[in-house]
Amino acid sequence: MLGAQWGDEGKGKVVDLLSERFDVVARYQGGHNAGHTVWIGDRRMVLKLVPSGILRAGKLAVIGNGVVIDPQALLSEIDSLELAGIAVQGRLFVSNRAHVILPFHRLMERLSEARPGRAIGTTSRGIGPCYEDKAGRCGIRIADLIEPESFRTLYLEHAQDKEVLRAAFQLGEPIDVLGTLQQYQEFGARIAPMVCDTAVLLNEAIQKGRRVLFEGAQGTMLDLDHGTYPFVTSSSAGAGGASTGTGVAPTRIHGVLGVSKAYITRVGGGPFPTEDHGPGGEKLRTIGNEFGAVTGRPRRCGWFDAPLLRYTAMINGFDSLIVTKLDVLDTFSEIPVCTGYRLRGKETAEMPATVEGMAALEPVYENLPGWCTPTAGLTHYDDLPARAKAYLEYLAERTGVEIGAISTGPERSETIIRPGSRLDKLL
Ligand code: GDP
Ligand code: IMO
Ligand code: MG
Repeated sequence: MLGAQWGDEGKGKVVDLLSERFDVVARYQGGHNAGHTVWIGDRRMVLKLVPSGILRAGKLAVIGNGVVIDPQALLSEIDSLELAGIAVQGRLFVSNRAHVILPFHRLMERLSEARPGRAIGTTSRGIGPCYEDKAGRCGIRIADLIEPESFRTLYLEHAQDKEVLRAAFQLGEPIDVLGTLQQYQEFGARIAPMVCDTAVLLNEAIQKGRRVLFEGAQGTMLDLDHGTYPFVTSSSAGAGGASTGTGVAPTRIHGVLGVSKAYITRVGGGPFPTEDHGPGGEKLRTIGNEFGAVTGRPRRCGWFDAPLLRYTAMINGFDSLIVTKLDVLDTFSEIPVCTGYRLRGKETAEMPATVEGMAALEPVYENLPGWCTPTAGLTHYDDLPARAKAYLEYLAERTGVEIGAISTGPERSETIIRPGSRLDKLL
């Protein structure tokens, strides 16, 4: 299950709901740049690194090898879960092959984000630089973190390299290397009991007939390869990432579910063809409460982009789509939907590979009539107003993907699962 747009599609809510039918929930990429919101009654939880499945008693949660882990962020998330009465010990497993975010990574990110005209608008969590070190084969992994002696050697080498860069670019104060070394050794000791080879754990679970749900973070348009490069995150947010990020082969994964808003949002910089800078966008932001779960930044808002969804459906091979936040559109008398793009006066079906190409796209809209009737909290498809059904059917037809479920509010129960859909059969 993964994001079909630019993130924040409502994956947390959907995973929380679906995890009832699974035994294990595994995160496969990203880090604490993710913010997955789950409402249980009037309690709001925002999960960043820990898979949302942890909220269901008895379920196992796995942080796979493709995730980058800031140990301090992980431990404080665990502490706040335990404080909220959610037992984490014995249910959360951390891959020994996941990479560790170190203080220098945040420093390096400040450097790259300060380049004039080149800022990505990142979450400033050190995610990109940690993946850079992973690809550069000089990263430190969880298996190293939990071995105090070898960690010390690796950490001091790493600190030395980064200090050269920091001094060369006159970036902030030198990092207290020995102080942070000790701090990280303490983090390692606390994380150690949760660490294992999670590829073995997951494959054994599958062999025993246990059901595993893979939880994507970010969204396909933020995928390092397939998104709006360079305005992307540094990991494989698409379906392919589920295999590389967990060590579970594609042949063992039986379905791919996309999550999409009934409109679209984006946080940070980069092209966004259907962005609405006017009152429509403002109204979506206000009603949809579109402010980042991690950074609090206002999300850029716009209209459902069918060609973009056709593209992400192709990349991921969606079996079914879960459309969230339908209720946010309840008071709009007209709802634009982008049905195609024009590029320099000509229709185009392809997603341009360059930012310039993306920025030059002119969306072609069809205005659909709104339903102007509350849908919030509805749980049966037949109870939806006719125009809301027509809107959803239009999206399914234009994207070529069935809509297997519709979310009508932030809570678990505020969901319609369509009986007989491919989604229903996969669950
Ligand atoms: P994620 O990163 O994909 O998990 O999404 P976020 O949690 O960052 O953002 C989605 C926001 O929409 C959260 O505040 C959710 O509580 C909220 N949400 C999810 N589904 C619905 C829905 O169907 N209706 C409304 N009104 N809010 C929703
Ligand atoms: P969830 O899982 C929305 C965006 C950032 C920035 C770009 C790169 O909650 O959907 P990074 O810190 O990852 O290097 O930033 O990616 N971004 C997200 N946008 N939802 C997210 O996660 C995001 N995680 C990163 O805003 O544009
Ligand atoms: Mg989010």
